[in-house]
Amino acid sequence: MNAAQAAAGPSTGSGRGAPPLADALRVAAAAWQRFRAGAALDRALDAAAGAAALRHPRAAAAAKDIAYHAARHLALLDALIARLARTPPAPPVAALLALGLAQLLAQRHAGYAVVDQTVTAAKTGADTRAAAGFVNATLRNFLRRQSALIEEAQRDDTVRYNAPRWWIERLRRAYPAAWAAILDAQREPPPLVLRVNARRIGVDDYLRQLERAGLAATRVGATAVWLHEARPVEAIPGFAEGLVSVQDAGSQLAAQWLAVRDGQRVLDACAAPGGKTAQLAELADGLAIDAVEIDAQRAQRIEDNLARLRAREHATIALHVADAADTRAYAAELRYDRILLDAPCTASGIVRRHPDIPWLRRDSDIAQLATRQARLLDALWPLLKPAGRLLYVVCSVFPEEGARQAERFVERHADARPVALPGQTANTLQLLPTPLAAAPNPAAAASVHPTLHDGFFLALFEKD
Ligand SMILES: C[S@@+](CC[C@H](N)C(=O)[O-])C[C@H]1O[C@@H](n2cnc3c(N)ncnc32)[C@H](O)[C@@H]1O
Repeated sequence: MNAAQAAAGPSTGSGRGAPPLADALRVAAAAWQRFRAGAALDRALDAAAGAAALRHPRAAAAAKDIAYHAARHLALLDALIARLARTPPAPPVAALLALGLAQLLAQRHAGYAVVDQTVTAAKTGADTRAAAGFVNATLRNFLRRQSALIEEAQRDDTVRYNAPRWWIERLRRAYPAAWAAILDAQREPPPLVLRVNARRIGVDDYLRQLERAGLAATRVGATAVWLHEARPVEAIPGFAEGLVSVQDAGSQLAAQWLAVRDGQRVLDACAAPGGKTAQLAELADGLAIDAVEIDAQRAQRIEDNLARLRAREHATIALHVADAADTRAYAAELRYDRILLDAPCTASGIVRRHPDIPWLRRDSDIAQLATRQARLLDALWPLLKPAGRLLYVVCSVFPEEGARQAERFVERHADARPVALPGQTANTLQLLPTPLAAAPNPAAAASVHPTLHDGFFLALFEKD
């Protein structure tokens, strides 16, 4: 269990000051039901926590931890319920059962305590009360037969890799050698990686600050620091003061490789929550940045981040709530020296941060997203000045959104010249998620490439 989990970890009766496991299970189960009906897990958790009027300050965090852990075993949980229940349970009962089973798999508490708390949670819900006896019997049955049940279920690849069959097949086709490693990395807990705000503190000084605070950390990129123990942002030294942001090391390359120069006009086309907007402002003086975001609610978060990081001390930043493809809403032709398009995508490169993703997507989403990405690329290209550069990035590992998208863009635009990325001969780079077991080598961290990162794709073009 990591520090964040320990802090949020619910109690089964003996833990002082922790929320009862039964309460956390009840909220997590309400969220799980919404998630299985198609809602993103974070939104489902927010809605469930709001509806539950939680009394304990850490109950929502505990419910999130339980639900995220379950999502990392979703296919196994479904397979176990199918084997343990003669007929499919009603959704509220199936949800509670799934989370109770996930807690048994996690082995954070004694089995009998998890069964007791899940049954207590069942008894408190109007839609689960009548099934409390069934929940009790099913969980006990699982405890008796767990090794055989798990072994049998894991013969199925969807259970073994916790991803839908179409998702596995796509990865298998795209990466004949690496597909299983990608799927393994997708099931790991996500590493907590920070971007050091170069305007405020050097990486070495920040590492010393962490050492003084007794926190183990490793440099994993030019401005990237991996905190070995996950923790909430409030407990990260210097976070509130804007010394650091939470940002994957691969994603940190985007603003760095756009290579902005003092005084340039820059477009950040899909900007929320503003991590890269703020990073751009750190990398040169006097930039004029247009940050465009289609989602008004998410755009609010850009302002919060810019304020925390004091980004406006170094750049003029105009925020536009607009569809970036509707360029007349915010710009004229031939306006920008640099364009960053951090496009909406499947997010297939960051599944370990959002384990709900493979279960929310459909196979057909990939073609639809690729079409949206191409539309954005084509709309933005005329805004770039001659000799200006556009960097296209997505947090995806599917080639349709990455390498193939970049190839097609060049085919459509005769004035788009591929430019080699730093330390590369090609203008594109597909990063695959690095497993935690491949422990970063501190000696290699000063090189161009980060040593610990999510799945991320970058492509750089210059206008003739
Ligand atoms: C990958 S996220 C961007 C992350 C951001 N660049 C950062 O580093 O913090 C993609 C964002 O694009 C926004 N978006 C999607 N379609 C858009 C469009 N047509 N125009 C502008 N923004 C869009 C989404 O709402 C989402 O906030």
